[in-house]
This record gives sequence, structure tokens and C-alpha cells, in this order.
Amino acid sequence: AQIVQAEFVKSSVRTEDCPADGLPEFALVGRSNVGKSSLLNSLVRRKRLALTSKKPGKTQCINHFRINDSWYLVDLPGYGYAAAPQELRTDWDKFTKDYFLNHSSLVSVFLLIDASIPAKKIDLEYASWLGQNQIPMTLIFTKCDKRKKKKNGGKRPEENVKDFQELINGFFETAPPWIMTSSVTNQGRDEILLHMAQLRNY
Ligand code: GTP
Ligand code: MG
Repeated sequence: AQIVQAEFVKSSVRTEDCPADGLPEFALVGRSNVGKSSLLNSLVRRKRLALTSKKPGKTQCINHFRINDSWYLVDLPGYGYAAAPQELRTDWDKFTKDYFLNHSSLVSVFLLIDASIPAKKIDLEYASWLGQNQIPMTLIFTKCDKRKKKKNGGKRPEENVKDFQELINGFFETAPPWIMTSSVTNQGRDEILLHMAQLRNY
């Protein structure tokens, strides 16, 4: 299931402009700054294939990366970034959700949740939307390397993960699969790649 080849293919802001070759796709979505682009780089073992930043709002398009010439990883703009103009945020939200609903080669959405902080309302709302629209999804908990801090409610990543799962319980008929990760230690990398390989073979 390892990645031996990865190349950037294109940036799109409309579903119609996304690659139409029918290869299976996995999309990374989550709050701005949650670590989507970092996770993509960790999976492909490259430092800067997807551009990352300390400042939220770095990724602004649907970015397709072809993997092993046979499937795609898709990096998306984050949601919930208050400092970006409202118009731009509405745009990102619209084309991202349109892509989820209308791009048939999308196999699963990977919803990234920051495990170093307590659940945020906007993440719960996003999970609820995915559930309501019956979009296949996997929960990816990020930043599991970060130790607890008083200001974060003093909880360990494992505790935040458990809390989040309880809060979204009612949104899905069956609880979505979940993986704990870190782009710093590469925790969860093999587990994600194996999970994606299993999903591709269905
Ligand atoms: P947008 O493109 O703005 O939506 O953000 P993004 O979700 O792509 O986040 P990005 O990968 O750019 O990472 C945001 C910040 O979080 C960067 O400073 C990363 O170094 C940091 N970061 C990402 N993943 C991890 C992680 O697993 N652990 C730690 N400690 N920091 C991380
Ligand atoms: Mg990004």
C-alpha cells in the first residue's frame, strides 16, 4: 500500500474541472490549519508537495495529486477561517460541497479533526452535514503528538478523540472508521494507506 510516486495534477474551483479519468479519489477536508496539507505530505513522504503554512487559509482550491499513477489524493481548502473574507469562504464551502455531492469517483472523504483541543462546534456541524448527505467518510484525528495544555481543557488527545466520537454518534447509521495521526511523528501513516487500499478494492 506504500506510495512510490506522487505528482501534482491540477487545481480546480469547479467540480466539472476536476480530473475525469475515473481513478478513485480520497479528499482531505477539515478546519483551516488542522493539518490537511501536512498529512498529504506525510503520506507521500515529501516535505513540500502540498504547500503548508502556520497561517490558516493556505489551500484555496481543489488540488488533485495523482498517486502511483492509479488513484488521487485531494487537498481542499479548510473551513472556519474567520480572517478570510466571507465571500471567499462561502465560495470554498460551495465548491467543496458540490465536489463531495457530484464527483462520482470520490471514494471517501477524510474529515480531519484536531485531537489536541476539545471538539469545536463547526467540526460537529461539518460531520453532521456529511452524515445527512450520506457521504462516505473516515475520521482522521491530527496533531496527536501534541501534549495536553491547561488552556486546552487539560485533556489528552485520546480523551478528545473519545469525546468527539460520542458527540457525533447520532449523525451516522454506523460509526465512521477513525485513525489517530501525527504529521510530525508520522503516526497513523501506514494505517491510512492500508485503509485507502482496502477502500479502493471494494
Ligand atoms: P489550510 O490549507 O490553511 O486549510 O490548512 P491545513 O489544514 O492544510 O494545515 P497545514 O498542513 O498547512 O498545517 C497547519 C499548521 O499545523 C502548520 O504549522 C503545521 O506545521 C502544523 N501541523 C500540521 N500537522 C501537524 C501535526 O500532526 N502535529 C503538529 N504538532 N503540528 C502539525
Ligand atoms: Mg492546506
